[in-house]
Amino acid sequence: MRLDKFICKSTELTRNDAKKLLKAKLVTVNDQVTTSAACKLGEGDVVKIEEEVISLIGHRYIMLNKPEEMICSTTDEVYPSILHLIDVERVFDLHIAGRLDVDTTGLVLITDDGKWSHNITSPNKGCQKTYRVITRVDITDDMVSALEQGVELHNEKAMTKPAMVEVIDSRQMLLTISEGKYHQVKRMLAAVGNKVIELHREKIGSISLDTTLDFGQWRYLTEDEIALFK
Ligand code: URA
Repeated sequence: MRLDKFICKSTELTRNDAKKLLKAKLVTVNDQVTTSAACKLGEGDVVKIEEEVISLIGHRYIMLNKPEEMICSTTDEVYPSILHLIDVERVFDLHIAGRLDVDTTGLVLITDDGKWSHNITSPNKGCQKTYRVITRVDITDDMVSALEQGVELHNEKAMTKPAMVEVIDSRQMLLTISEGKYHQVKRMLAAVGNKVIELHREKIGSISLDTTLDFGQWRYLTEDEIALFK
């Protein structure tokens, strides 16, 4: 990697800032003052700015308990992005692996590792997501078996893939699906003649929402959790 790029990726500095530092002879590579922005770094090279070693920020993996009235994209004129809840450097390098609607709460996984998030979001991977669904009317056996077999969504040709349903009480279920179509759970419930009143994601693959996190709180994933989608 070029030296100026390395400086930008390791710090909050812009390319222009990096060039100024280089010109001012404040940057060393392996303790040799270097002024060339194009200097190619090899593995093990030690870069210092004013005697301080800088290193690349590694990939970051975060779980967040999404509150209502926040959105999973970066821009919206009405609602703030959940990325505003995360006070880390270079927050806008992060992306969300599988979005939730503005009124849906629960588990969101956030990373800057595109390969990792692909294992969650790619339709070919069939990653399972479990939602706690509160419904408007009572859940019938017919609704459960239709959801389990697959239903036809409005404006979609293909049936949904078989889902897993665990009925908790007359108006509450845990629904596990392995697809991520637009408003999928709400449309599935509509397709069986019911309506979603509350929706909360509890699990993505084998990663469960940490129940010690309040709405709006986040934590880094553990090594074991990260390994589940490597
Ligand atoms: N299905 C929905 O309908 N909404 C979500 O936010 C997630 C899944």
